[in-house]
Amino acid sequence: MSAGRPLPHESAHLHVQGQAPYIDDLPELAGTLHAALGLSPVAHGKLLSIDVAALRAQPGVFAVLTAAEIPGVNDCGAIIHDEAILAEGLVHYLGQPMFVVLSNDRDTARRVAARAREFVSIEPLPALLTPEQAHDAQRYVVPPMHLQRGEAESALKTAPHRLEDSFHLGGQEQFYLEGQISYAIPKENQSLFVHCSTQHPSEMQHAIAHALGWQVHQVQVECRRMGGGFGGKESQSALFACVASVAAHRFKRPVKLRLDRDDDFMITGRRHCFVHRYRVGYDEQGRLLAACVDMISRAGFSADLSAPVMTRAMCHFDNAYWLPHVDLHGYCARTNTQSNTAFRGFGGPQGALAVEVILDSVARRLGLDPLDVRLANLYGQTERNVTPYGQVVDDNILPDLLAELARSSDYRARRQAIAAFNQSSPVLKKGLALTPVKFGISFNVVHLNQAGALVHVYNDGSILVNHGGTEMGQGLNTKVAQMVAHTLGVAPERVRVTATDTSKVANTSATAASTGSDLNGKAAADAARQIKERLQAHLAHKHQLAPDSILFENDQVHVGAQTLPFEAAVMDAYLARVQLWSDGFYATPGLHWDRETMQGHPFYYFAYGAAVSEVLVDTLTGEWKLLRADVLHDVGQSINPAIDMGQIEGGFIQGMGWLTSEELYWHPTSGRLMTHAPSTYKIPTASDCPADFRVQLFDNLNRQDTVYRSKAVGEPPLLLPFSVFLALRDAISSVGQHRVDPPLRAPATPEAILDALDAVKLATP
Ligand code: MTE
Ligand code: MOS
Repeated sequence: MSAGRPLPHESAHLHVQGQAPYIDDLPELAGTLHAALGLSPVAHGKLLSIDVAALRAQPGVFAVLTAAEIPGVNDCGAIIHDEAILAEGLVHYLGQPMFVVLSNDRDTARRVAARAREFVSIEPLPALLTPEQAHDAQRYVVPPMHLQRGEAESALKTAPHRLEDSFHLGGQEQFYLEGQISYAIPKENQSLFVHCSTQHPSEMQHAIAHALGWQVHQVQVECRRMGGGFGGKESQSALFACVASVAAHRFKRPVKLRLDRDDDFMITGRRHCFVHRYRVGYDEQGRLLAACVDMISRAGFSADLSAPVMTRAMCHFDNAYWLPHVDLHGYCARTNTQSNTAFRGFGGPQGALAVEVILDSVARRLGLDPLDVRLANLYGQTERNVTPYGQVVDDNILPDLLAELARSSDYRARRQAIAAFNQSSPVLKKGLALTPVKFGISFNVVHLNQAGALVHVYNDGSILVNHGGTEMGQGLNTKVAQMVAHTLGVAPERVRVTATDTSKVANTSATAASTGSDLNGKAAADAARQIKERLQAHLAHKHQLAPDSILFENDQVHVGAQTLPFEAAVMDAYLARVQLWSDGFYATPGLHWDRETMQGHPFYYFAYGAAVSEVLVDTLTGEWKLLRADVLHDVGQSINPAIDMGQIEGGFIQGMGWLTSEELYWHPTSGRLMTHAPSTYKIPTASDCPADFRVQLFDNLNRQDTVYRSKAVGEPPLLLPFSVFLALRDAISSVGQHRVDPPLRAPATPEAILDALDAVKLATP
């Protein structure tokens, strides 16, 4: 069997040997030019002039491009066409690309581009730098969004208890190890071949064609692998793909644009920071009776994916809980900063963390264990099971999953042990939290839930697969290869997956929303099934047997009493002129969504999980340590348990980084992002992993007919470390005998922890 096995990542042996080529590793063609971008030195202003002649006169400069040289439309906006490739008329943030310097030498291009401010004249305009400022000015990138159920205001008035507060959570840089890169190569008769590190080759193809004023068939985009995407290469690879392509076409030379890490930070957007302002009503058991929430996100200067990110945030405010009356409002605030975009979870983490913080506060006010308050609010299985957006939660496994995790992690006993520890430890304080995850799987935009694949069986019995998804390290190609091998009953070693290529599978969706293996795995299995059926029909006809009596397993084909090696059956069919390659297609069934009312059935199913974290905080320095984390996560029936475990552990640690150490800081007057390199922006390292990290897969079959009855695993684990954040809050709260809510912001850096400790000490009677 090929599916269900913990096979290594298809490129693991190449990764560790440095033999897996990324785009910058490809041999450069003769005549390759290197591009570098000149960035705006101000957050907002009128771009009066660019001294192109002076730029071109710099030693080593081959050419300079500005917006005026873009032959098609100067736009690379993902959904709304509000984003210039190169600034024209106005600059909207500090870091916005204004011009391109081309040179035979990358270093020369970068050195000249870095002196951008010497060559431009800009009349500064007032800038809105924070989401709160933009919200006060009612400046949004898309109209405000509303999701309502029941009578939240009146339920709030009659609730026995009320709570009103706000919560700030920070954004997050994707910090893919391979930065943004595109390498565009002119081809015959007005066409281009573009290597692009992107999660969305089809959209890159469209954006390039749009910028050149071309038809889509003139552009071919390929991506073999990314050194990480994490959402940052879903839409935001477009600007670089367009710049390289426009320059390549203009000068009939191959053009490579590979960003320097600091420029990558300065130009591209990231996870949206959010401000949640909430009023909730609850009863004695801590059940939420009403929730009114304003969610304000930092969209940045353009729409990009801010609207769908906000949609997912609003559709995940419920997380695991039934909320009878809700009144949610989403505001995507237009700020003069980088345009924020997708990042693992796509707004879901920002929305769900809000309700977890609220429940934590409710529990503290009632003097209850937060786990009990969570359990009291949990979705029911036959009632109390409709989400605020109208979808019935009909696959809820959380009651069992939470019970199992509470037991296996010894939650209740450790809660008591920690209380005792804190009694006798004046400086070091421990904290504990258990938080659940429910994450909706599918794109909220129905038509994106489709995928295609192409499977070739060569006449030696080897198999080549191409599909519309992209490999960014998550193991998609490995899972797709396993599904093809599984369908044909052959060894996975027979199957090779090739680079994603717009000339092979057309009109693909981004590899995003965790749907990569669900969609492409199904499409590839569909192609493999068709080939198998043709082989069966051929052999059945030849041997006068029923087609379904011909069995494919263990790399062999059973034909009546005879057993053939797979390659023999293939050769036999080839000689009989049977088509041994096929396309495959898949569209997720049963989805509908009304964007205006925010009601429908946007998700095919939900993925679940939960984690328990125990932390130790030094109340004098704000330093802390994750002592132990227990995770129980639902991946349905796993196609590849090793890869799924990697996704769960990686997602957990990445989410922990978001909530604890990764802090973005824009200068309050200039709007310059000050944290634009690893020197100032701290992602977790191996040493931040807990010494005691117990990750288990929850034994479960997906009730929906997904590929191998598996569940998507890419994003949901990012929500598991909510437990780390809330364990920190618990530890801080112990300083005030759990009577005062710690006003802990995210990320909970040592500074934020000390601020919260001070506030608790001040407020404790
Ligand atoms: N894992 C690795 N190693 N690298 C990545 O860039 N991206 C994440 C997640 N896991 C990512 C990753 C994001 S944002 C998504 S949407 C999913 O993988 C996409 O892959 P899938 O749908 O094939 O699971
Ligand atoms: Mo993932 S944020 O959907 O690319």
